[in-house]
Amino acid sequence: MTPTISLSRLRANIEALSAFGRQPDRGGISRFCWSPSHEKARAWLIRKMKAAGLATWVDPAGNTFGRLAGAGDASGGRESKGAARRGARGARRARGGHAPTVMTGSHIDTVPNGGPLDGALGVLAGLECLQAVAESGQRPRLPLTLAAWSDEEGRYGGLFGSRCYTGRIDPAQVAGIRAIDGDRLVDAMKRAGFDARKAPSARMRPGEVAAYVELHIEQGPHLEAAGIPIGVVEGIVGIRRFRLAFIGEPDHAGATPMARRKDSFLAAADYALRARDHVVRKGSGRSVTNFGHVEIAPGVSNIVPARTTLLQEMRELDARILGRLERECLALARDVARRRGCRVRVERVSANQGVRCAPRVMRAVAEAAGALGLSHRQMPSAAGHDAQNLAHVTDSGMLFIPSMGGRSHRPDEMSHWKDIERGANVLLLSLLRLAR
Ligand code: GLV
Ligand code: MN
Ligand code: MN
Repeated sequence: MTPTISLSRLRANIEALSAFGRQPDRGGISRFCWSPSHEKARAWLIRKMKAAGLATWVDPAGNTFGRLAGAGDASGGRESKGAARRGARGARRARGGHAPTVMTGSHIDTVPNGGPLDGALGVLAGLECLQAVAESGQRPRLPLTLAAWSDEEGRYGGLFGSRCYTGRIDPAQVAGIRAIDGDRLVDAMKRAGFDARKAPSARMRPGEVAAYVELHIEQGPHLEAAGIPIGVVEGIVGIRRFRLAFIGEPDHAGATPMARRKDSFLAAADYALRARDHVVRKGSGRSVTNFGHVEIAPGVSNIVPARTTLLQEMRELDARILGRLERECLALARDVARRRGCRVRVERVSANQGVRCAPRVMRAVAEAAGALGLSHRQMPSAAGHDAQNLAHVTDSGMLFIPSMGGRSHRPDEMSHWKDIERGANVLLLSLLRLAR
């Protein structure tokens, strides 16, 4: 008999995990990677993995894994004695032999004041799937591995853990990585008991992952509007982030005639509105941009703003369109700055590529949905996900379930429990198909 997931156990786990980092007064959940609430959540997750019968380990990038042996696996799926926390060698032992594994996962960190499902759903549904398989007594041919990737939300630079795991990080840059409030990655990791310089050594062995499939909430309105329970993700957007510093003059805010001012804030604001229009008019129709952080200096009412820094991101699946939009927007920034008597300095913060999902994984998800009598539709992901790093090293894909009201990255992010149950069962069948 095909195993099925237990919604009551999955729901209890989602509710338990959401207590870590819960803010008072309906402020949502703030569980940043490496923070005390995140580390407590990690310890809780490891206990849950062990209780489910998984071998567990944490790699030098802080990625947390749990593994269930496959039918042809010599280690029998028990945790190897001394499977070390944080040690590359211990991790390798716990991974067991060289059998490629089918992997699922997501992340347990959150945005500031986030909701209970972004990331947590993929991890806890993955745990539920592996536990259901373990309890069924049947084993697919290949091992199944669950991953909770570090710092997906990018407090210290996006998709950090999966970038380390897939070898997409420049070790020379690790020391310079900082959060927006200046907190250095090396310090944050040290507080959590990790050595950031060792994070790049978390790199996987070639061929270690046979396929990757991640369940996530859609985070947008499309599935709910169409009344379709399952989205088969066909591709994941590329994201560019840059910091634009508009530089003007700090003059007296009363005595300087308006026409003489070199107001960096007005240059930045003018640019933001024009860039938004440009991306909407000249993009693919799905291209988006956002200004998520603004800093004004000196930041007092009686001095004309001398320096205004914008943090801008752009997203688009098609790499050519994304590259063109970036070039055009940066030219626009220079033009707007000049016309307002200012200068602009641009620093690229991050750039990742959009990827196409693997047809084999898309097929497994679509067949799994079909086998459960659930309608599905192919759709792109407008959010970034660890699956896009995995796509560079293995067949990678995702499935989405509807988000209520299309809401995400906010405290009231939620999905119907029925949809969560359906998504988790589709994930389970997809894993079994990929691992057989
Ligand atoms: C991840 O949540 C993203 O920013 O897309
Ligand atoms: Mn996420
Ligand atoms: Mn997110």
